[in-house]
Amino acid sequence: KKIAIFASGSGSNFQAIVDAIQGGQLAAEVSLLVCDRPGAFVLERAERYSIPTISVAPKNYPSKLEYELDILKELRAREIDFIVLAGYMRLIGTTLLNEFEGRIVNIHPSLLPAFPGKDAIGQAITAKVQVSGVTIHFVDEGMDTGPIIEQREIPLTEDETKETLQKKIHHIEHQLYPETLQRLFTTLK
Ligand code: GRF
Repeated sequence: KKIAIFASGSGSNFQAIVDAIQGGQLAAEVSLLVCDRPGAFVLERAERYSIPTISVAPKNYPSKLEYELDILKELRAREIDFIVLAGYMRLIGTTLLNEFEGRIVNIHPSLLPAFPGKDAIGQAITAKVQVSGVTIHFVDEGMDTGPIIEQREIPLTEDETKETLQKKIHHIEHQLYPETLQRLFTTLK
Protein backbone atom coordinates (compact mmCIF):
# COMPACT_ATOMS: atom_id res chain seq x y z
CA LYS A 1 0.00 0.00 0.00
CA LYS A 2 1.17 3.48 -0.87
CA ILE A 3 0.07 5.73 1.92
CA ALA A 4 -0.04 9.48 2.43
CA ILE A 5 0.24 10.68 6.00
CA PHE A 6 -1.48 13.96 6.86
CA ALA A 7 -0.03 15.73 9.90
CA SER A 8 0.07 19.20 11.43
CA GLY A 9 2.42 18.87 14.36
CA SER A 10 5.32 17.03 15.90
CA GLY A 11 4.71 13.83 13.99
CA SER A 12 5.58 11.23 16.60
CA ASN A 13 2.93 8.96 15.06
CA PHE A 14 4.39 9.62 11.62
CA GLN A 15 7.70 8.52 13.09
CA ALA A 16 6.21 5.37 14.60
CA ILE A 17 4.74 4.38 11.24
CA VAL A 18 8.01 4.98 9.41
CA ASP A 19 9.87 2.98 12.08
CA ALA A 20 7.40 0.08 11.80
CA ILE A 21 7.88 -0.01 8.03
CA GLN A 22 11.66 0.03 8.36
CA GLY A 23 11.45 -2.65 11.03
CA GLY A 24 9.39 -4.89 8.76
CA GLN A 25 6.25 -4.83 10.94
CA LEU A 26 4.20 -2.82 8.47
CA ALA A 27 4.03 -3.56 4.77
CA ALA A 28 3.48 -0.12 3.29
CA GLU A 29 5.29 2.79 1.78
CA VAL A 30 4.93 6.35 3.03
CA SER A 31 4.83 7.96 -0.39
CA LEU A 32 3.85 11.42 0.76
CA LEU A 33 3.53 13.66 3.80
CA VAL A 34 0.83 16.31 3.57
CA CYS A 35 1.42 19.04 6.12
CA ASP A 36 -0.88 22.03 6.58
CA ARG A 37 1.32 23.89 9.04
CA PRO A 38 4.53 25.40 7.68
CA GLY A 39 7.35 24.87 10.15
CA ALA A 40 5.81 21.81 11.82
CA PHE A 41 8.43 19.41 13.17
CA VAL A 42 6.96 16.53 11.17
CA LEU A 43 8.43 18.17 8.04
CA GLU A 44 11.93 17.71 9.44
CA ARG A 45 11.19 14.07 10.20
CA ALA A 46 10.08 13.48 6.60
CA GLU A 47 13.16 15.18 5.26
CA ARG A 48 15.37 12.91 7.34
CA TYR A 49 13.93 9.90 5.47
CA SER A 50 13.69 11.66 2.10
CA ILE A 51 9.93 11.24 2.13
CA PRO A 52 8.27 13.60 -0.34
CA THR A 53 6.34 16.37 1.33
CA ILE A 54 3.76 18.91 0.37
CA SER A 55 3.33 21.85 2.68
CA VAL A 56 -0.01 23.47 2.05
CA ALA A 57 -1.30 26.46 3.99
CA PRO A 58 -5.10 26.59 3.73
CA LYS A 59 -5.05 30.36 4.01
CA ASN A 60 -3.34 30.52 0.63
CA TYR A 61 -6.41 29.02 -1.02
CA PRO A 62 -9.70 30.76 -1.78
CA SER A 63 -11.72 27.77 -0.54
CA LYS A 64 -11.50 24.33 1.02
CA LEU A 65 -12.47 22.89 -2.34
CA GLU A 66 -9.42 24.36 -4.03
CA TYR A 67 -7.19 23.45 -1.11
CA GLU A 68 -8.24 19.82 -1.30
CA LEU A 69 -8.14 19.71 -5.11
CA ASP A 70 -4.51 20.73 -4.91
CA ILE A 71 -3.80 17.92 -2.46
CA LEU A 72 -5.82 15.47 -4.56
CA LYS A 73 -3.68 16.25 -7.60
CA GLU A 74 -0.59 15.18 -5.65
CA LEU A 75 -2.27 12.07 -4.26
CA ARG A 76 -3.25 10.98 -7.76
CA ALA A 77 0.15 11.76 -9.22
CA ARG A 78 1.73 9.51 -6.59
CA GLU A 79 -0.93 6.82 -6.89
CA ILE A 80 -1.77 6.94 -3.20
CA ASP A 81 -4.02 4.09 -2.00
CA PHE A 82 -4.67 5.15 1.53
CA ILE A 83 -4.71 8.29 3.71
CA VAL A 84 -3.52 8.11 7.31
CA LEU A 85 -4.30 11.11 9.51
CA ALA A 86 -1.77 11.52 12.30
CA GLY A 87 -2.42 14.71 14.21
CA TYR A 88 -3.95 16.49 11.23
CA MET A 89 -5.93 19.27 12.88
CA ARG A 90 -8.50 19.80 10.16
CA LEU A 91 -11.70 18.21 8.91
CA ILE A 92 -11.49 16.26 5.67
CA GLY A 93 -13.85 17.70 3.05
CA THR A 94 -16.02 16.04 0.44
CA THR A 95 -13.38 16.28 -2.29
CA LEU A 96 -11.03 13.89 -0.52
CA LEU A 97 -13.80 11.86 1.13
CA ASN A 98 -15.40 11.04 -2.22
CA GLU A 99 -12.17 9.93 -3.82
CA PHE A 100 -10.90 7.94 -0.82
CA GLU A 101 -14.11 6.55 0.60
CA GLY A 102 -13.35 3.93 3.25
CA ARG A 103 -9.63 4.56 2.79
CA ILE A 104 -8.99 7.33 5.30
CA VAL A 105 -8.24 6.59 8.94
CA ASN A 106 -7.58 8.76 11.96
CA ILE A 107 -6.17 8.29 15.45
CA HIS A 108 -7.74 10.16 18.33
CA PRO A 109 -6.54 10.42 21.95
CA SER A 110 -9.74 9.35 23.73
CA LEU A 111 -12.22 6.51 23.80
CA LEU A 112 -14.61 7.87 21.19
CA PRO A 113 -17.41 8.86 21.20
CA ALA A 114 -16.19 10.45 24.44
CA PHE A 115 -14.21 13.68 24.09
CA PRO A 116 -14.14 14.34 20.34
CA GLY A 117 -12.48 17.44 18.92
CA LYS A 118 -9.62 19.50 20.23
CA ASP A 119 -7.84 18.83 23.51
CA ALA A 120 -9.35 15.41 24.14
CA ILE A 121 -6.70 14.80 26.78
CA GLY A 122 -7.52 18.01 28.66
CA GLN A 123 -11.21 17.16 28.42
CA ALA A 124 -10.61 13.76 30.01
CA ILE A 125 -8.58 15.30 32.85
CA THR A 126 -11.23 17.95 33.52
CA ALA A 127 -13.98 15.33 33.54
CA LYS A 128 -11.92 13.28 36.02
CA VAL A 129 -12.67 10.03 34.21
CA GLN A 130 -11.05 6.89 35.52
CA VAL A 131 -10.43 5.48 32.08
CA SER A 132 -9.60 7.11 28.78
CA GLY A 133 -7.67 5.74 25.83
CA VAL A 134 -7.00 5.77 22.11
CA THR A 135 -9.30 5.23 19.15
CA ILE A 136 -8.51 4.45 15.52
CA HIS A 137 -11.45 5.02 13.21
CA PHE A 138 -12.48 5.48 9.61
CA VAL A 139 -12.98 9.11 8.69
CA ASP A 140 -16.26 10.57 7.58
CA GLU A 141 -17.45 14.17 7.31
CA GLY A 142 -17.87 14.57 11.08
CA MET A 143 -15.44 15.59 13.77
CA ASP A 144 -13.88 12.36 15.08
CA THR A 145 -16.91 10.33 14.06
CA GLY A 146 -16.87 7.39 11.65
CA PRO A 147 -16.75 3.64 12.24
CA ILE A 148 -14.36 2.56 14.97
CA ILE A 149 -11.62 0.13 13.99
CA GLU A 150 -9.67 -0.26 17.21
CA GLN A 151 -9.66 1.09 20.76
CA ARG A 152 -7.32 0.71 23.69
CA GLU A 153 -8.19 1.71 27.24
CA ILE A 154 -5.82 3.60 29.51
CA PRO A 155 -6.56 3.88 33.24
CA LEU A 156 -5.96 7.28 34.83
CA THR A 157 -4.30 7.67 38.21
CA GLU A 158 -5.75 10.04 40.78
CA ASP A 159 -3.00 12.60 40.25
CA GLU A 160 -3.01 12.26 36.47
CA THR A 161 -2.11 15.46 34.58
CA LYS A 162 -2.38 16.36 30.92
CA GLU A 163 1.33 15.75 30.58
CA THR A 164 1.37 12.30 32.16
CA LEU A 165 -1.72 11.18 30.26
CA GLN A 166 -0.33 12.56 27.02
CA LYS A 167 2.76 10.44 27.54
CA LYS A 168 0.77 7.26 28.17
CA ILE A 169 -1.40 7.94 25.15
CA HIS A 170 1.53 8.48 22.83
CA HIS A 171 3.13 5.30 24.06
CA ILE A 172 0.01 3.31 23.18
CA GLU A 173 -0.56 5.15 19.90
CA HIS A 174 2.92 4.42 18.61
CA GLN A 175 2.29 0.68 18.92
CA LEU A 176 -1.39 0.60 18.07
CA TYR A 177 -1.35 2.68 14.89
CA PRO A 178 1.22 0.66 12.89
CA GLU A 179 -0.23 -2.60 14.20
CA THR A 180 -3.78 -1.66 13.24
CA LEU A 181 -2.74 -0.39 9.82
CA GLN A 182 -0.99 -3.66 9.13
CA ARG A 183 -4.10 -5.59 10.09
CA LEU A 184 -6.26 -3.31 7.98
CA PHE A 185 -4.02 -3.57 4.92
CA THR A 186 -3.96 -7.34 5.03
CA THR A 187 -7.75 -7.58 5.29
CA LEU A 188 -8.60 -4.82 2.80
CA LYS A 189 -7.97 -5.50 -0.85
C1 GRF B 1 -1.95 12.28 18.69
O1 GRF B 1 -2.10 12.20 20.06
C2 GRF B 1 -3.22 11.92 17.97
O2 GRF B 1 -4.05 11.08 18.69
C3 GRF B 1 -3.90 13.24 17.78
O3 GRF B 1 -2.88 14.15 17.58
C4 GRF B 1 -1.69 13.70 18.22
C5 GRF B 1 -0.58 13.80 17.23
O4 GRF B 1 0.68 13.65 17.81
N1 GRF B 1 -4.86 13.17 16.71
P1 GRF B 1 1.98 13.50 16.90
O5 GRF B 1 2.05 14.74 16.01
O6 GRF B 1 1.84 12.25 16.09
O7 GRF B 1 3.12 13.44 17.85
